[in-house]
Amino acid sequence: MSSSTSAGGSSARFSPYENLKYPYCDEDSKYEKLAKIGQGTFGEVFKARCKKTKTVVAMKKVLMDNEKEGFPITALREIKILQLLDHVNVVSLKEICSSRSSNYNRYKSTFYLVFEFCEHDLAGLLSNISVTFTLAEIKQVMKQLMNGLFYIHSNKILHRDMKAANILITKQGVLKLADFGLARAYSVTSRQPNRYTNRVVTLWYRPPELLLGERNYSTPIDQWGAGCIMAEMWTRSPIMQGTTEQNQLTLIAQLCGSITPEVWPGVEKLELYNKIELPKGLKRKVKERLRFYIKDAYALDLLDRLLALDPSRRVNSDEALNHDFFWMDPEPAPLTPMLSRHTTSMFEYLAPPRRQAHPPVRNVPHPAPTKAPNPDQHFERTY
Ligand SMILES: Nc1ncnc2c1ncn2[C@@H]1O[C@H](COP(=O)(O)OP(=O)(O)O)[C@@H](O)[C@H]1O
Ligand SMILES: [Mg+2]
Repeated sequence: MSSSTSAGGSSARFSPYENLKYPYCDEDSKYEKLAKIGQGTFGEVFKARCKKTKTVVAMKKVLMDNEKEGFPITALREIKILQLLDHVNVVSLKEICSSRSSNYNRYKSTFYLVFEFCEHDLAGLLSNISVTFTLAEIKQVMKQLMNGLFYIHSNKILHRDMKAANILITKQGVLKLADFGLARAYSVTSRQPNRYTNRVVTLWYRPPELLLGERNYSTPIDQWGAGCIMAEMWTRSPIMQGTTEQNQLTLIAQLCGSITPEVWPGVEKLELYNKIELPKGLKRKVKERLRFYIKDAYALDLLDRLLALDPSRRVNSDEALNHDFFWMDPEPAPLTPMLSRHTTSMFEYLAPPRRQAHPPVRNVPHPAPTKAPNPDQHFERTY
């Protein structure tokens, strides 16, 4: 449309969505909302039911922050990636639906991503003390997590927001990686180093290379997050709850040892290495400090390898799946018996506030992080 048409028309308002019909997009009225189950940085998530088939789904509202720019590019990216992925350990996107635009919504449709419904997220499960995981069940969770990561990484997708709230678990005990709102495709062989944004990943799960300004990062960033989640399966609370990027690096050094070119050749070339005060002379204490919680030697060993400071030495998902942790007794065991004892859904949003980690920057405004009291200070107290 030429600018003269839109500026000179008698209609006072021009909306790109006005009177638009979306032929491949069903109306949201085919679903009835049952409950709000999530309020992330991106908008609300509802449990809903299809009026016709009675199938229960999760509907994630697309936040239209800037209507002038049309459908948000970040949501388009998320949809494109979700449409590419098809694996039992990745959440499945069923369809996109929208509200009918009318006078009532000022001719602005609301769009929803409609997902298969999962009864729990891992943050919700971990914050409920009556939910306990045996070693065999933790192996089952971690095995599925690594399978999901192996699949997305093989498809050249980085998740970039690994954390317990983004890991869903169905009542049948099937784990699904979710929230591809920050995900992106990555390239492996390029003559030019990549220049991705490093303002990704929730602070508490952010790996040292991102904190030091690396822009040519890859799959090890998700492996670090998987390591943090693995530890949390025992500690029940995020292991490094930094308050600032500087503080996060300090917590990492206190657990993983000082960040030096000896343990991480090339780290000195990272943009922030000489600009940030890094604690010196600290010994690596991953096994020593987590031994209190984790009695299994294989688990400690795998965790130590996932939390390697040098991303090139961090285990990838394939190596992790071959680790003795998954192959020694007890074998991974189904979660169904344990989950069948818990019939109400557990989501981070519905749990008492405790783990409001600084969210990564998305290009939508988000509420200031709440300083939530942490009722489950077990890890910090005894750690
Ligand atoms: N398919 C789903 N089934 C059940 N709950 C879900 C589903 N997708 C998301 N949720 C819940 O909603 C929360 C927010 O969704 P998410 O995709 O992570 O969006 P955000 O970008 O807002 O964090 C999740 O942490 C989870 O608790
Ligand atoms: Mg999320």
